Amino acid sequence: MDKSSLVYPMFVKAGENIEEEIPTMPGQFRYSVDRMPKLLYELMDAGVTSVMLFGIPDHKDEVGSGAYACDGIVQTALEKAKKEVPELYCIGDVCMCEYTSHGHCGILKDTYVDNDLTLEKLAQIAVSQVQAGADMVAPSDMMDGHIRAIREALDQKGFITTPIMSYAVKYASAFYGPFRDAAGSAPSFGDRKSYQMDYHNRREAMKEALLDIQEGADIIMVKPAMSYLDLVREIKDATQVPMAAYSVSGEYAMVKAGAKLGYIDEAAILCEMAAGAYRAGTDIYMTYYAKEIAHYMDEGRIG
Ligand code: PBG
Repeated sequence: MDKSSLVYPMFVKAGENIEEEIPTMPGQFRYSVDRMPKLLYELMDAGVTSVMLFGIPDHKDEVGSGAYACDGIVQTALEKAKKEVPELYCIGDVCMCEYTSHGHCGILKDTYVDNDLTLEKLAQIAVSQVQAGADMVAPSDMMDGHIRAIREALDQKGFITTPIMSYAVKYASAFYGPFRDAAGSAPSFGDRKSYQMDYHNRREAMKEALLDIQEGADIIMVKPAMSYLDLVREIKDATQVPMAAYSVSGEYAMVKAGAKLGYIDEAAILCEMAAGAYRAGTDIYMTYYAKEIAHYMDEGRIG
C-alpha cells in the first residue's frame, strides 16, 4: 500500500465560484474550474497525486455533445489542472451519462442504447480529453468494443503512449446512487442493465476483463470495490495487467452516515476497507477518502 496508488475522484461543474457540498456525500463537493486548484493543492500536500475527473455540464442533449466538446467542462478542467499543478496525474472519465438528456451512457436508438453508434462518440471523448491534457483515460460506459475504438482513435491522433484504464468489470449497482445525485446522471427511464453487469454473474467479469485486455486495456478496474473484491483477486491471478478497484459513492456515503450517527469508527473502517482492497490484489485504489487514507498511511496506521 502506497500513497502513489491512490486516486481521488472529483466532480467539476460548469460555472464560476462554485463549491457546493453534495448532500448524499457529505464532505465531497462540486467545484467550478476556478475553485478547483485549492483542492488540487490540498491533495498534492497530502501526497495524493492522481485524480479522476467527472464533469457536470451546464446543458445536456440527446447525443451528449458536452462530453466531447473541446471547451467541455472536463476538457476545461484538465487544461486548468495541468497548468496549475503539472505534476498532478489527471485521468479523464470517458462516459456519456452526465451529458445526455436521458441519462444513459450512450446514444439511444428508440429506447435502448445502441452500442456501435456509441463507440464513435466514446473515441471522440477520449481524444478530446487527451488533447486537453489527460494523462490517462478511463472508459466507464461498458459498451462492447470500446477499448479497441478508443485505442485506435488515440493512436491515429499520435497519442500512442496514453494508457487506458478500463472499467471492464462494472456491475449494475445500487452503490452508485449518491454519485448519480452528485452528477445528475440517473437514467430518466429504464436502467443500465443492458450494458452494466448482473451482480450474480461471476464468469462474465472474467470475459469482460479478457476482452478489454485483448483490445488494448492497460489497467482493469473492478467496480464497486467492497462487495466485489473476489473479482479483483480472480482477475489479478488470471491476467498480467495492473488492477484497480473503485470504492464508489455508496460505500463512501454508508461510512459517512454510520460515522455521523456514531455507530462506527470512521477511521478504523476506512483503513480496513482499503487494506481489504489491497489484500485482494488491487494495485490502484480509487476512493473519495484518498486524502484521509494518505494521512493514515503517513501515520503508519495502515501501509
Ligand atoms: C458513469 C459512472 C458512474 C460512476 C462512475 N462513472 C455512475 C453510473 O454508472 O451510473 C459511479 C461512481 C460512484 O458511484 O462513485 N457511468
